[in-house]
Amino acid sequence: LLVDKGNYRHYMAKEIHEQPEVVGRALAHYLDLAKGTVRLPFELPFDPKALTRVTISACGTAFYAGVVARYWLERFARLPVDIDIASEFRYREAPLAEGGLMIVVSQSGETADTLAALRYAKAEGQHVLAIVNVDTSTIARESEIAAPILAGPEIGVASTKAFTCQLAVFACLALALGRARGVLSEAQEKALVAELIATPALMAQALKNEARVEPLARDVARASSALYLGRGPAYPLALEGALKLKELSYIHAEGYAAGELKHGPIALIDYAMPVIVLAPHDASLEKTVSNLQEVAARGGHLILIGPESARKAAAADLAGFLEMPEEAAGAFAALVYAIPAQLLAYHVAVFMGKDVDQPRNLAKSVTVE
Ligand code: G6P
Repeated sequence: LLVDKGNYRHYMAKEIHEQPEVVGRALAHYLDLAKGTVRLPFELPFDPKALTRVTISACGTAFYAGVVARYWLERFARLPVDIDIASEFRYREAPLAEGGLMIVVSQSGETADTLAALRYAKAEGQHVLAIVNVDTSTIARESEIAAPILAGPEIGVASTKAFTCQLAVFACLALALGRARGVLSEAQEKALVAELIATPALMAQALKNEARVEPLARDVARASSALYLGRGPAYPLALEGALKLKELSYIHAEGYAAGELKHGPIALIDYAMPVIVLAPHDASLEKTVSNLQEVAARGGHLILIGPESARKAAAADLAGFLEMPEEAAGAFAALVYAIPAQLLAYHVAVFMGKDVDQPRNLAKSVTVE
């Protein structure tokens, strides 16, 4: 495989920086840019109006993309979504109503558990759509529809650009289903598509934080544990941010729904543990800010990832602030907020001298159970 690092020190750095471009390319494949509407590159083999349920299964980062998508499919297409990690789903014996839709997500298309989840769903009479990066993969071949994410080869073991491209495809799919089911009007579809089209530029803005990430990374590198908090679609991003940090730096990290703080993790708060709060300016900002203040009141080591308006609302003593564009406030903010989480984990690992492209014990593609 001939892919070079260009001017980057690691494949991961290159892949992080490619995201505005590859997400733009993925969007162009699923949107009619001239009309400002969704245009799926395949026919759906079922009537979206008759669909009553969607099941999603995947592993690792691809799973978290599915958790973000659940918010979109429920909100924009009013479809109930069941999501589980593939290693659990394949053995759950979940009853699936004939004709339902199973979505599997896999960068490599070769993950053994995800493939087994797919086969189970097929045997249960589901339509199977796979969101994949490698279109010649086993998962792509065994699915009824293979929806490509067009991220290009991803070499870094920790997934970055595949994640945001998976999100881009999921977003388009949710809007297409919402429109076909009569949940979204044409005007709503166009407004949401306009937001999606604006996203790569906002991702490019988020990347400009890199210089500010480095000093924060040195700080986080001293910690033995870190907590990530988020609400709504920022909750799976908290999970993904924590996964990235542990994969790359071997620092223990947990992602939590901000609203769950009081049910346990608040007991961990002290001056030494970084608490990274992902706070896009959406309808839940006020609630997230009040969780942040609970951490501040206990002397927590706070790092806020959000717009200036969130920093103002927080009015708390912050150990760090990564400023996100104010416009990344809508439904698709997750694509933008993924970037600072990736950059932080990357720079912590670089500072600690870890092997970022090949973290210990991890494999790019897990083809055994
Ligand atoms: C491994 C990789 C992760 C990836 C996961 C799922 O754990 O290290 O980066 O998210 O597998 O892989 P897939 O190819 O199915 O997306």
